[in-house]
Amino acid sequence: MKERITERLMGWYATFRRELPWRTTQDPYAIWLSEVILQQTRVQQGLAYYERFIGRWPRVELLAAASEDEVLKEWQGLGYYSRARNLHTAAQEVVDRFSGVFPADFASLRTLKGVGDYTAAAIASIAFDQPHAVVDGNVYRVLARLFDLATPIDSTEGKRAFTALAHELLDTTHPGTYNQAIMDFGAMQCTPQHPRCEQCPLQDCCLAYAAGTIAERPIKQGRTKIRDRYFHYLHLSDGTHTLLHRREGGDIWQGLYEFPLIETTSACDAPTLAANPTFQQWLGGQSYQIEREQSMRPHQLSHQRLHATFFRIRVATLPAIEGSQPIAEERLGEYAVARLIDRYLELCDRN
Ligand code: ADE
Ligand code: SF4
Repeated sequence: MKERITERLMGWYATFRRELPWRTTQDPYAIWLSEVILQQTRVQQGLAYYERFIGRWPRVELLAAASEDEVLKEWQGLGYYSRARNLHTAAQEVVDRFSGVFPADFASLRTLKGVGDYTAAAIASIAFDQPHAVVDGNVYRVLARLFDLATPIDSTEGKRAFTALAHELLDTTHPGTYNQAIMDFGAMQCTPQHPRCEQCPLQDCCLAYAAGTIAERPIKQGRTKIRDRYFHYLHLSDGTHTLLHRREGGDIWQGLYEFPLIETTSACDAPTLAANPTFQQWLGGQSYQIEREQSMRPHQLSHQRLHATFFRIRVATLPAIEGSQPIAEERLGEYAVARLIDRYLELCDRN
């Protein structure tokens, strides 16, 4: 049964595989880059990012020598910016600890910043033909359906069981091809919402298909609870310049730029915000005019929901706000910002 599944997956892939730029190379740097990007987005969107990264930094030493700001700017729009910082750090580690040559074994790969089991298995198998099975969201779904497994994929037991199964199915003579086959199969054939079971070469081996449980596979146990946060951004302007602040560690968006921020425990309108002690400290001593108040729709992150309002405030002179620096407004586009801020700037451009 398992050999048959492996064989059919390989056969399906030979016909339906997607031709992708990182599939024509064995360069571990290119493969690593593609895998880190693809953990963050779908292949369709990831392609453009991959082309830009590999075009700008074709070798690991070049990425290592870039500034963190440049890497974050190139990553802009993908979200989860710690991945971009880890990417940059790992490039420097390859240069410093491995003389610029990617290590070829799983254990050494695993020591690189941001390289977890998934990425190490992907690089080891695709670039170095080593028998390590990848387990990503696609693999969980395909395996949960084929074997009709109800073990939650976000439990310790589920992780162990699905990883073991993935290893049993691995084609050990072509591990990289097999791993990409099952991921493509999950992305194109056995999709989350409407899997194409009627034209599926694995239908006769699929236990969830037989049991009618496809829509309930895979099972996830409770989500971690979502925290609501209320952000009030001060888009100050003296006519030519605004203030921008670079976020520091310990919270979301480390290293990205934003306007001076007042966070509160509930949403504030303009009069309430004007009475806020931080606002008073920043602007209390001068005259100002709130020209515009722009509330954004809630911005969903993995464990937080951000309720943001931007206040466009006209001042004669920009106040001194610790940690913020004056920036010419026409140069705002050069700074790496979170998607939320970018959406606001797009709205400004349209008005
Ligand atoms: N998703 C992440 N990496 C992938 C790969 N190499 N092939 C197909 N889908 C993927
Ligand atoms: Fe997925 Fe349907 Fe094929 Fe089963 S029969 S592997 S659920 S596409």
